[in-house]
Amino acid sequence: MCGELRPEDSGADVVLMGWVNRRRDHGNLIFLDVRDRSGITQVVLDKEVSGEAHAKAEAARSEYVVAVKGKVRLRGAGLDNPNMATGLIEVVAAELLLLNESKTPPFSPAEDAIANEEVRLKYRYLDLRRVDMQKNFKLRHDVARAIRNYLSDAGFLEIETPFMTRSTPEGARDYLVPSRVHGGSFYALPQSPQIFKQILMISGFDKYFQIARCFRDEDLRADRQPEFTQIDLEMTFPQQGLIFKTVEGFLAAAFATAGITLPTEFVQMTYDEAIRSYGIDKPDMRLPAMVDLSGELTAELRETLKIEQGLPVLGFVIPGVGVLSGTARKALLSEVRSGFGESGLDLLDVARLGTNPDFAPLASAIDAKLVSGADAPPASPDNLVIVVTPKLGTPAMWNYDPQWIYKRVGALRLQLGTKYAAQHGRFTKTGTAGDYKFLWVTDFPMYEWDEEAKVWNAAHHPFTSPHEEDIKAGRLTSDKGAVRALAYDIVLNGTELGSGSIRIHRQDVQAEIFRSLGMSDAEAHERFGFFLDALEYGTPPHGGIALGLDRIVMILAGATSLREVIAFPKTAKAIDLMVDAPTPVSEQQLKELSLRTVIRS
Ligand code: AMO
Repeated sequence: MCGELRPEDSGADVVLMGWVNRRRDHGNLIFLDVRDRSGITQVVLDKEVSGEAHAKAEAARSEYVVAVKGKVRLRGAGLDNPNMATGLIEVVAAELLLLNESKTPPFSPAEDAIANEEVRLKYRYLDLRRVDMQKNFKLRHDVARAIRNYLSDAGFLEIETPFMTRSTPEGARDYLVPSRVHGGSFYALPQSPQIFKQILMISGFDKYFQIARCFRDEDLRADRQPEFTQIDLEMTFPQQGLIFKTVEGFLAAAFATAGITLPTEFVQMTYDEAIRSYGIDKPDMRLPAMVDLSGELTAELRETLKIEQGLPVLGFVIPGVGVLSGTARKALLSEVRSGFGESGLDLLDVARLGTNPDFAPLASAIDAKLVSGADAPPASPDNLVIVVTPKLGTPAMWNYDPQWIYKRVGALRLQLGTKYAAQHGRFTKTGTAGDYKFLWVTDFPMYEWDEEAKVWNAAHHPFTSPHEEDIKAGRLTSDKGAVRALAYDIVLNGTELGSGSIRIHRQDVQAEIFRSLGMSDAEAHERFGFFLDALEYGTPPHGGIALGLDRIVMILAGATSLREVIAFPKTAKAIDLMVDAPTPVSEQQLKELSLRTVIRS
């Protein structure tokens, strides 16, 4: 292969086949860099060695497909290329075959970065020839294989579930497939294998997994595609700790393929702690947590500083900002302030406080508290300290919902933290274990209030088990907002990698949950009757999780979009630019499906 030859192969007769990555013509000497999936080798065509081969090389162009027969030799002194794995050798061609020509490509796969993503996606076959892309798909294969092997060795069976099925409630819209045989009826493509994997537990396959394709019609983002792949698993009789151990095990195996050793156990924190310390349910642990400074502010101090009583005062440190000039600091603080808009939040300028003898003790107490946390950075003038205060007479816009403050300040922490991390080149992948901060977030709320529709929705999905105590205390009806679920997420560097839960295994509880979500018994029966029936035939306690394979590979590859790790992805408008899908279909096809299209504007 083109990436394999080394100095010890010097003198060997070899045959290489691949694409012309670059061609350099020096008259009697022509250099062809020949590329295949494994790498690139420099081939020398010397008129004096083979006039015929040299003449063919004159006709060769970028992306021609060639076969070379020749001898490996060490490059001359000073001609080594330390940036290439094969940079110490070259192949002197005795024969050259031009196996196929290529039109001049719209961009060269030899380039590192191609600015126009639309062109990349339209000519995806050329884009995928690029070394970086070839690396990403090798990584994806290695990760999937490591996970498959790990789970197989741990006794999990891989079982496929249908693509043409009924709607599964994961919170997105379904992609529908019209039935020809049953005109007017539709299959739904699965948003996940959720119901099937639970039925497999009822069927006695105590450990199931699947590297499963899922389909969701939702607004797309860099980390969302309409078709994506989950590592989906389910087991009977688990405590959530067993599921965590299984996931930690397969992630360690997957990261090991990239040479990264992960800790054997990941940090855990409840949803409430995550909101209080990070203001978000998927904390980026590479940045220090927020700190509640309410204790530093007496009622009198609050009055003097015009801070609302009873609401939290939160601070955070952004490390390594660099020493900001007075003007830069002021500009930044006023930008942050104006970002608060009408929300009633304000800033305490700790540096200015410190210059006033009345407040100096407060400033130093705040400083001490912020830099004393377990994950806090050392005190340094390079750190930016932000303290957010609710103003006196805070507007009712957040209904005195203190979570709102945590979430808003958490968002600011993330925005500034990411900005400065990017500016200072931190958070760029260096590939050591410390760059990957994993976290389990547990005890999510069971329900989410939808203010627009004025209904409670399942925060995870309606098959998730509430905490036993919350059922017993009657909170399903009396206090939905307080019901905790046995639901958990795995988070990596601020990205949700996966979600799962311990499921409901009793039919009466499941029916009750459907009711509590505003679904009538008739509707529950119509949508999930088969499942409610199945639950009545000896359903074992069970639970599981699903992780986004695409997201895992994206982070490991150091990429910022799933499109870098999905071979044939869709654009943000859900279009496949290469095959040009979706498209209208013929009248005949529509007729067969008993369909007529009416485009509403
Ligand atoms: P959930 O809906 O949270 O859970 O999905 C699990 C994981 O799948 C990935 N993911 C996506 N990746 C790319 N593009 C998308 N559009 C997309 N949507 C989701 C994420 C996410 O964390 N059935 C449950 C799991 C369970 O309860 O066992 C489920 O699908 O990484």
